[in-house]
Amino acid sequence: MKKIFDTHAHYDDEKFDEDREALFVQMQEEGVERIINVSANLAGVAATLDLIDRYPFLYGAAGVHPDDAKELTDENFEIIRRALKHEKMVAVGEIGLDYYWDSTERDVQKKWFLRQLQLAKEMHKAVIIHSREAAQDTMDILKAFQAEKPEDMNIVMHCYSYSPEQAREYVEMGYYLGIGGVVTFKNGKKMKQVAAEVPLDRILLETDAPYLAPVPFRGKRNSSEKLHYVAEEIAALKGITKDEVLEATWENACRFYGIA
Ligand code: NI
Repeated sequence: MKKIFDTHAHYDDEKFDEDREALFVQMQEEGVERIINVSANLAGVAATLDLIDRYPFLYGAAGVHPDDAKELTDENFEIIRRALKHEKMVAVGEIGLDYYWDSTERDVQKKWFLRQLQLAKEMHKAVIIHSREAAQDTMDILKAFQAEKPEDMNIVMHCYSYSPEQAREYVEMGYYLGIGGVVTFKNGKKMKQVAAEVPLDRILLETDAPYLAPVPFRGKRNSSEKLHYVAEEIAALKGITKDEVLEATWENACRFYGIA
């Protein structure tokens, strides 16, 4: 069986409190061998540190989501920096802009997005970007950052949801695109086109568990072994086999996060 790398999940979420342990055992039987647990706020950073210490197959990303960016101060920002010193903290994330919920003032979102991007550069970490209904501002910030971005710095547009044109632009900038359950949705036409067009070596598989479960589990709690359905859909769209998708995305993820 091919190995599966879930590059974006939230196993610190309370939806997993009841059966986290059993679920981990079960998903490993279904091929899941590596998972990045991504923080969304400072509590998530602490929870992620705890998880990566307990489970060998879990790695972490430390950062604060735009929805929660209002909790950041110059003082508590150091919590993220300290967490990134852990050898299994392989990325800064998830960070970015969210104009759908708009739960943090946009200027404040932008400020901490930039500060965390700079931190990733300073700490030599990969970056996981969340961007929702903020296509233009996100592109503008990242285009400006491009001038100072180190060549070996890897950045992924997590749960990519914008146009095929912007996808091409991000790929040209050297970025990766995170693809998950949405590609299996009947109304996920745009995402299907993106998955068909983007070069296979730039795709990372991700669940965003517990959210965004693929068809036929849409609306239910998501977990990493359901990536089988996402890989199947990408394979069908690209006219290749599911094994080819799993093999390539495993290698992409190891390269992206610098895990041997
Ligand atoms: Ni997420």
